[in-house]
Amino acid sequence: MAQKSTMERSGRKNNAESPSGQSGAAPLMHQRGRATQKYGTVVKMAIGLELSVCKEICGRLNQLLADTMTIRDLYKKCHWQVAGHTFYQLHLLFDKHYEEQSELVDTIAERIQLLGGVSIAMAADVAELTSIERPPKDREEVPVQISRLLEAHELILKLAREIAEKADDLGDVGTNDTLASEVVRKNEFQAWFVSEHVVEAPLVQAE
Ligand SMILES: [Fe+2]
Repeated sequence: MAQKSTMERSGRKNNAESPSGQSGAAPLMHQRGRATQKYGTVVKMAIGLELSVCKEICGRLNQLLADTMTIRDLYKKCHWQVAGHTFYQLHLLFDKHYEEQSELVDTIAERIQLLGGVSIAMAADVAELTSIERPPKDREEVPVQISRLLEAHELILKLAREIAEKADDLGDVGTNDTLASEVVRKNEFQAWFVSEHVVEAPLVQAE
């Protein structure tokens, strides 16, 4: 049987002008349709892991993704709003950490997709899911900015280690490796760099 063209299937005539008078070369705007995969579901991928394992890990990874997207944005907020005599170094440091967290966001989101899940993406959905305390829209003092970042790092680190352990138990060594070698190590390192800024240290005269 001859294959029908997209035009024929959609019922549109294959001519330069549609009945509405719009040119066939015009982009078709304002389209909506059914979901191709519902959020929270997992499809079987050719990776040799049970569907139930992928579903378990994807659910947990979406929580980690929402928290990682939140700390990423918290770093940008701090980068913009920081003030004081450490402005220059913190302004640069916060942006470096923002970039590194952006890479982790991509890594976690793509891990969810390759396991057959659907990664969370939009800010409103992230806000609903994250466990990190929402900061005010206002500017805050540097020690408060840093406290918020450290609390967020600690929360992410505990969660990432928990998921890594679960993934290992279930035989998902890829997730275990990604979390241990990328997420945990990077967050530990960033937490160290940030925390050294809230240590009481004499600037001019030794105690
Ligand atoms: Fe900037």
